[in-house]
Amino acid sequence: MIEFDKNKKIFNISNGSISYFIYVNSEGILENLYFGKFTDKINLEKRIKKQDNYSTQYYDKKENVEKMFADKFSVKHSLFEIGFHNGGDNRPAPIIVQKNNGMYDTNFKYISHKIYQGLPIFKSDEPHLTGGNAETLEITLKDEFSDVVLIYNLSIMLDKDIIVKNFILKNDGSNNINILRAFSGQLDLNSRKYKVHHFYGNWGNERNEEVNNVLVGEQVISSNYGRSSHEHNPFIFLTKNGANFTIGEVIGFNLVYSGNFKYSIFSDYTNTTRISWGINDYDFNWILEPENIFVTPQAVISYSKNGIDEMSHNFHSLIKENLIQYKKEADYKSILFNSWEGCTFNFSTKSIKDYATAAKEIGAELFVVDDGWFGHRNDDHSSLGDWFVNENKVNLKEVEIHVHSLGMKFGLWFEPEMISFDSDLFKKHPEYAVGLYREHPILQRSQLMLDLTNDEVIDNICCQMVRILDSIKIDYIKWDMNRDIKEHFIERLGKNHQGEMLHKYVLGYYKLIGKICKKYPDIMIEGCASGGGRFDLGTLYYCPQIWASDISKPSTRMFINFNTSLGYPLSTVGTHINNSEETSYEEKGMLSLFGTFGYEMNPLKLTEIDKKEINNIAEFYRKNHKDLFENGTLYHLVSPTKNNYMVMQVVNKTKDHSCLIVVKKEGTINKTLKLRGLDFKSTYKNDHTKYNGQDLMENGFEFKMNKPGVEIKLFDFKK
Ligand code: GLA
Repeated sequence: MIEFDKNKKIFNISNGSISYFIYVNSEGILENLYFGKFTDKINLEKRIKKQDNYSTQYYDKKENVEKMFADKFSVKHSLFEIGFHNGGDNRPAPIIVQKNNGMYDTNFKYISHKIYQGLPIFKSDEPHLTGGNAETLEITLKDEFSDVVLIYNLSIMLDKDIIVKNFILKNDGSNNINILRAFSGQLDLNSRKYKVHHFYGNWGNERNEEVNNVLVGEQVISSNYGRSSHEHNPFIFLTKNGANFTIGEVIGFNLVYSGNFKYSIFSDYTNTTRISWGINDYDFNWILEPENIFVTPQAVISYSKNGIDEMSHNFHSLIKENLIQYKKEADYKSILFNSWEGCTFNFSTKSIKDYATAAKEIGAELFVVDDGWFGHRNDDHSSLGDWFVNENKVNLKEVEIHVHSLGMKFGLWFEPEMISFDSDLFKKHPEYAVGLYREHPILQRSQLMLDLTNDEVIDNICCQMVRILDSIKIDYIKWDMNRDIKEHFIERLGKNHQGEMLHKYVLGYYKLIGKICKKYPDIMIEGCASGGGRFDLGTLYYCPQIWASDISKPSTRMFINFNTSLGYPLSTVGTHINNSEETSYEEKGMLSLFGTFGYEMNPLKLTEIDKKEINNIAEFYRKNHKDLFENGTLYHLVSPTKNNYMVMQVVNKTKDHSCLIVVKKEGTINKTLKLRGLDFKSTYKNDHTKYNGQDLMENGFEFKMNKPGVEIKLFDFKK
């Protein structure tokens, strides 16, 4: 429900579980009166904790006198919806625009609003949330100093505690304006007693959790890698007063975007916190011509009054129900065999067919030929950009027919955004590559970026992909991206438009992948960027799952999968069993169940015992995946961040089946853990022992693990 009290000028935004009150103050500035758990009472007078006369004063030019703002708001202390740039609000502003006369000051003031059912309709096909179970408040504001109009969209989901925000900038003037920062949202909080949790890492070591207090000053969490990055994920959250998985206030944040992002978390002596976030303003400068608009990606807030897991559940259902657009319900249940770790570039028609036959024997349902099938690619120094089959190496049609004849689906690897020096495409179109302006063009994995800001390049790659997809029956694509954008210059864009390059690249990526998704609705695309370098809400719009990391060894994967699943559903977390020697195939399979399940190994080298173990776990997956891991509820019991082990639990909707996974990195464990989400009154059986639901939840389940090194256990509870 969104209501506007005309007399008090207060918007009341609520879904019965959370409330958000916004006040249009005497100056037309939007103040955040309250955001948090449901309340129907709001006290306008008490809204400012601290105030000094200096920051509430102004000069009335008409009357020639000093005055106080009518409702005593303070430019320095009040909580705002859109901080203003200059004019006394010294906290970071979400929007910075330089006008034609050179002025940076902005102050967006209320003009009008409308309230409607559903989420905002996006005219373009850029990633966005969809679905009717929401209400939206659209407020139109105008800059005090120019003809820049700002549309502020704020939606509340009615069935989950999620707020969605974004801004649209409109140039209603007759001169160009420079947008120097166009964030998507801001949230001012009335306290700084929060801890900030964010996820950092690098290749093969994604999503380690870092926790710190809200700092006095500004903390920035961002990517300037050109993609959302391994180094920092756009999902972060704040916990208050020692909140844990089940207790306390938690506010989660994310952004529907795959490129450079930035969070600014700011606090000062007022003990309030301002979080503002969106497209990174690093090397960003967008020239907005008259009558044009700039639409920022959607910013998402998940609110929980009952701990971290409730915040996760909001995100999980939002992603599954409102974000993923393509192949939502589809083939990601298939057990995936990927050829990469087994044979890398070294295969022939015969050997890859043998792989497929052997993969079938361990229960694979989707066989994927990874890198190395195209151009003349036998290592990573060539052929990106040449998306035609390397006929000298492999008869792909024959492989496809073989795979399909075994009753498996067939998938192929592409890395559509890249170009190798050693490629036909580079010989013909060197201008398609980014970065040649340098004396020593910078390589990463021997490759350069393609200029996806150019429609001609998008069309070229799209046509090449279409030719393959129309000649070979393909059910799945792994869409990879193996380098950062290290160059921020494309001459073709012109000297005044270099600050648009990075965002235009992201829009180009969306255009290209969107074209393929639309033309081939039956093909499922899995995202990948050297593992989890682009694990974000922008990519999930197109790809219902993303390969979470190139490292599958459980001692690292336990962190990656646990932490990723705090913000993203298990069904999106690409996880395979590989031949890491840390533990048995059966145990590695248990970890893969808590993800998208698949294999990554040489299947011809497996022993009969290995095969048996893999088949057993595959059987468990087939029987239980949908009910338990995909549609069930995930609980986080023990975080690996400060422990030598982690524990996750899934419970199906009817609460008659639950699975607990414990992954131990080292040492021993002797613990009693309280389970969650079970039926109090029911009896559950695990390994021939009966347990009472209430007992498991109130007194806990006792287990021991004392094998040296890595050990994984799965406890299966059935009513
Ligand atoms: C990246 C991916 C891997 C694999 C290779 C192929 O590193 O993350 O899974 O596909 O590329 O070159």
